[in-house]
Amino acid sequence: MLLKWLRSPFKIGAVAPSSRYLAREMAAQADLSRPGPIVELGGGTGAITKALLARVNHERLFTVEFDRDLAQTLRSRFPRLQVVEGDACELVALMAARGVDRAACVVSGLPLLGMPPSVQRRIVGAAFELMGDGGRFVQFTYGPASPLRPHLLADMGLTARRCGHVLLNIPPARVWCYEKAGAR
Ligand SMILES: C[S@@+](CC[C@H](N)C(=O)[O-])C[C@H]1O[C@@H](n2cnc3c(N)ncnc32)[C@H](O)[C@@H]1O
Repeated sequence: MLLKWLRSPFKIGAVAPSSRYLAREMAAQADLSRPGPIVELGGGTGAITKALLARVNHERLFTVEFDRDLAQTLRSRFPRLQVVEGDACELVALMAARGVDRAACVVSGLPLLGMPPSVQRRIVGAAFELMGDGGRFVQFTYGPASPLRPHLLADMGLTARRCGHVLLNIPPARVWCYEKAGAR
């Protein structure tokens, strides 16, 4: 799998899988208090998946991954995990095909920072369509600022809160929590 990373770091969007410290921080920010499934976007080799599975059972977690080899890696590593092979832009349809029309929380390991705003909008918009207004979208990034820029946040009616900072990761990463303004 490291080979896959070395061959296509731009598609994967990272120089290495998330450290266990970053994975734990991402999982800790998942809001489990709402009913419904937890959806992970961009499972990769399963670093964050593993941390999420320490907090929720297999029945409650769905992991979306569009790379066929990585989806297969996830299935081999976590045989009971519900792996959804597909593009996060199509999240609502992908989950509807699984009989899921509501999620409690979305935890994203996608390389959101490197995506054009139009794609960011599609993915985050789909996540909030699935979660409803009270949902939380959790995202890590290597940059100093929110990977969703202020004008997009304003357009989408979202608030951004830096909810974690993990030095023990290559490179160090920040965790952001996005919620609908006024929803809580
Ligand atoms: C930065 S890696 C993170 C992997 C893992 N979550 C981690 O933290 O180590 C991003 C992952 O998102 C996947 N990905 C990128 N764009 C995607 C999309 N539009 N839909 C689904 N998965 C996507 C990539 O194939 C890759 O596995």
